[in-house]
Order: sequence, then structure tokens, then C-alpha cells
Amino acid sequence: MTLQLRGIHKSFGEAKALESIDLTVASGKFTTLLGPSGCGKTTLLRIIAGLETPDQGELRIGDIVLFDRARRVNRPVHQRGFGMVFQDFALWPHMTVLENVAFGLKAKGDKAGWRRRSLEAIELVRLGGMEKRYPHQLSGGQQQRVALARAIAIRPQLVLFDEPMSALDAMLREEMRLELLSLVRQIGFTAIYVTHDQTEAMSMSDEIVVMQGGRILQQDSPEAIYRSPKHAFTARFIGKTNWLEADKRLVRPEHVSWSRKSESDLTWNGTVQAVSYMGERYEMAVDLGEKGMWLAYHPARMSIGEPVQLFVAPEFVRVLQSE
Ligand SMILES: Nc1ncnc2c1ncn2[C@@H]1O[C@H](COP(=O)(O)OP(=O)(O)OP(=O)(O)O)[C@@H](O)[C@H]1O
Ligand SMILES: [Mg+2]
Repeated sequence: MTLQLRGIHKSFGEAKALESIDLTVASGKFTTLLGPSGCGKTTLLRIIAGLETPDQGELRIGDIVLFDRARRVNRPVHQRGFGMVFQDFALWPHMTVLENVAFGLKAKGDKAGWRRRSLEAIELVRLGGMEKRYPHQLSGGQQQRVALARAIAIRPQLVLFDEPMSALDAMLREEMRLELLSLVRQIGFTAIYVTHDQTEAMSMSDEIVVMQGGRILQQDSPEAIYRSPKHAFTARFIGKTNWLEADKRLVRPEHVSWSRKSESDLTWNGTVQAVSYMGERYEMAVDLGEKGMWLAYHPARMSIGEPVQLFVAPEFVRVLQSE
């Protein structure tokens, strides 16, 4: 069922955390809220969960109204029944893996099925055999999986994730990313995932919602966000940028070439300012004088101060719709 938010506002005292949020999240999709610290991601997620009350607006899932200020409807958290996985996992230290995972099912009064369903969820996150352990007897990645099993054990239609990977190291994060995606495919729940990590957002999402200062700037597929950002902020936040005209005409570094491919190519002369080795390529900062510093990729090291020419095919110049 589609989740719909209309005209959501939220202030904390004088400070506006969210302004005029309209958002539609399609059923079964993986949607990521992406934006810098303080832009309102957690607040929005908490509003969807029912942990925070908006000042204005309406929130519904399918035909069911979850919140409507005007009609004084506000379903409490437990009636919304969404799964939640938050940053610090918050497992109960005095409970075993099984007890942690079973908590939501027991709270719902599932007397007959809680054990089987909990063990199923534990199997799904590949922790079979560890159900008697306590959280302190697990690695960080395993604890994270317990939190995931706890969220999905109740078979929610929607699972909310707030930076669930932030406590994990880079390798484990990548592993968990793939596991989480396969779990989403297997069980088929709708996921709303908060992160400020653009790689995470790009690699996992069906849709990305870019936020800044309590507003939504753009909602699109990862490809559309990267290739056709509507705002300079989005262009900079997701990927590296070269500007033909400040904040208006954009060229991504992978579209800058070192030789002329066609008569219509745009051409500039510059000098190499910095060389960074990235393993699979070198990132070259090239000083183009009035055009500023540009970034381009090259397969071999070049010397600093070397004069170079850069070429861009006109079709790779993106004109932004608005500032
Ligand atoms: N309970 C609160 N009381 C007062 N201000 C709050 C409260 N919760 C959030 N805020 C403010 O609302 C704004 C949005 O906060 P929020 O936690 O939603 O940001 P975020 O995008 O999740 O940031 P981060 O990436 O750092 O987690 C911030 O300016 C924050 O200081
Ligand atoms: Mg947050």
C-alpha cells in the first residue's frame, strides 16, 4: 500500500525542522531519505513511525489515515505496526537473541506463533543457532542483524531504517547492504531508509528523496538524481561536479576527456594542479583559469604543472532547472 504524506510541517520551538513535506512512497519499493546533518531526516522518519506529532498535515497508508491534524486523527505507534531499525540498534542487553526478536510478537499477543516466527526471522538474517546468545556475545554486524530480525519478525508492511549501518566498518557495511537488499526482495516489504551516505543511497535505492533544510528538493531514481539533478545542492551532494557556469551548467568528471572526439567538442586549456591516486584511476584537478578548478579522470599519473587540454561533448553538459 502506498504511503502518502501531505503538507507535513514540524517545528521545535522557533526552529523549523520540516516544511511542507509532500511525499509518496510506493509499495514494495526501497526509498532513501538522503541529506546533510540536521535536514530533518530523522524527524520525518519519526513522524511516519508515530513517534513525533506533526504541527500540520496528513499521513496515510492506502486508505487508512494515520495522522490528520484537521480531523484530529493520530494513530499511536503500536497501531501503525511498522518495523523500525535505528542507529544504535538498542537491543535489550539482558535478553537473548530469541527474546529480543520475539519481543514485538509477544507484545502483539501472538501466543501460538511467536517462537516459530522469531526463529524464522533469525534464520532469514542468517543467525540460526545463535538464538540463545546475549547481545554482548555477538559482533557489531551480528547485533545489527538481530535488530533487523526483530523489525521483520512481525512481518510489517513498512520498515523504517535510521542510519542502521553507521556503527559498522566499511567492509561490514557493504556486506550488510547486499544482505539487506536480498532480504527486502525475499520478504517484499516497503523500506524507508535514512542515510547521509550517498554511496549507500545510490547502491540500494529504487528512489532517492534528497532533503535540505527541512524540505524535499528532489525525488527520483538514483540514475535520474545523478544525471539530472534539479538543484546545484543535489549535484554537489551526489557525486563530483565541474561547473561551466556556477550552479547552472554542470559536467560530471567522467565526461571530461583528454582528446577531441568530435568537431563540436567544447575545449579548454589548463594546467594540472593536483593528482590523487584512487586505485582504479587517477583523479586530476586541472586549473582552467576563469572556469575554475575542474576534476577529470585519467588512467596514468601526470605531472603537476603539466599543460593539458580538456574536451567535453555538448550532450554531457547538464543545464540545471533551478537554483
Ligand atoms: N526533539 C527536538 N527538540 C528540538 N530540536 C530538534 C529535536 N529533534 C530534532 N530537532 C532539530 O530539528 C532539525 C532536524 O533534526 P533531525 O534529527 O531530523 O536531522 P537529521 O537529518 O536526522 O540529521 P542527522 O543526519 O544529523 O541525524 C535539527 O535542526 C535538530 O536540531
Ligand atoms: Mg538523524
